[in-house]
Amino acid sequence: MSIKRIGVMTGGGDCPGLNAVVRAVTLTARARGWEVLGIEDATNGLVDLDYRSPHGNRFLDEQDVEGILSRGGTILGTSNKSDPFHYVVERDGEKVEVDVSDRVVANYHELGLDALISIGGDGSMRIMQRLAAKGLNIVGVPKTIDQDLAATDTTFGFQTAVQCVTECIDRLQDTAESHDRVMLVEVMGRDAGFIALHSAIAGGAHLCVLPEIPYRVEPLVEKIRRRKAEGHPYSIGVVAEGARPVGGAASYEGPRELGAMRKLFGAGARLAEAIAPRIDLDVRVVVLGHIQRGGSPVQFDRVLATRFGVKAVECVAEGRFGHMVALRTPDIVSVPIAEAVARPRTVDPDGQLVAAARAVGIEFGG
Ligand code: F6P
Repeated sequence: MSIKRIGVMTGGGDCPGLNAVVRAVTLTARARGWEVLGIEDATNGLVDLDYRSPHGNRFLDEQDVEGILSRGGTILGTSNKSDPFHYVVERDGEKVEVDVSDRVVANYHELGLDALISIGGDGSMRIMQRLAAKGLNIVGVPKTIDQDLAATDTTFGFQTAVQCVTECIDRLQDTAESHDRVMLVEVMGRDAGFIALHSAIAGGAHLCVLPEIPYRVEPLVEKIRRRKAEGHPYSIGVVAEGARPVGGAASYEGPRELGAMRKLFGAGARLAEAIAPRIDLDVRVVVLGHIQRGGSPVQFDRVLATRFGVKAVECVAEGRFGHMVALRTPDIVSVPIAEAVARPRTVDPDGQLVAAARAVGIEFGG
């Protein structure tokens, strides 16, 4: 099939490196003589027929992507409330979920798209799989700071997030040591504790709690006491936002909003409340939150994002639809989206990384 026009969009939570993909897609597609429509705010742009070019043209061009390689966020906007199969609308004053996927299909054709490059995480890829089944020519590009997609060795954004957390731990180490405090740093990681584990090792943390290893408070307290007895009356703990105690659930804020994922909230505070009465040190909690998602991508993420964008355009040219690009070191390959979302990736509690962390004295509480 001869390609004349493609769409590109970013979905789910933003992630350093999204702009680098948009740039690579635009430059390589334009070099092939294709038109590139920048769909706005994930699939919502296909529901409402919104597309954007920062310079006011209809299509993205070289000018639009000039200078965006090093910028975090996404020039196309994004949303994690954009599932067209569960689209939230107001009816009779009440919010309800409806299926507007047929409208998305109709609008894809209305825009004259020959293919769509969708950059997103596991949620977005599941949506793309369903849209591909409705006949859309889709190529996926994986993104997630959580690194929870199994089909690719890693995703861009992860390294930047870990670098950010590591720098914060270094700073907190200074003040924790000065004040004899226990500092608990809460980091992102809904179901996968990779950010927490990597940054705990890189930052020399003493405690680390993960969604994959339910914790008991006593060993964590013991570690803090032991350190104090050995002349180090301070400790740093990294808490993944999805961490949970043995027999307990993760910490959430309120019920799930329609069309959205349930909000995680309070894992660090919960652990602090459990630890504080058992030790005679001040316990403080620092929630890094969205700081981890912003900022300029580190070079690894820029290179990976660029390679993903280039490969996605190649996939479109070869008619390799329903596929997602992936890193299988040292190559960028493409895999069926179905395979990419078949199973999530989580930290292996018995794996080498956890073993290395334990070997240097990190206490997981389980
Ligand atoms: O999936 C990436 C992620 O960063 C999760 O770690 C986190 O739970 C979620 O996004 C937060 O998203 P939001 O922007 O909706 O708060």
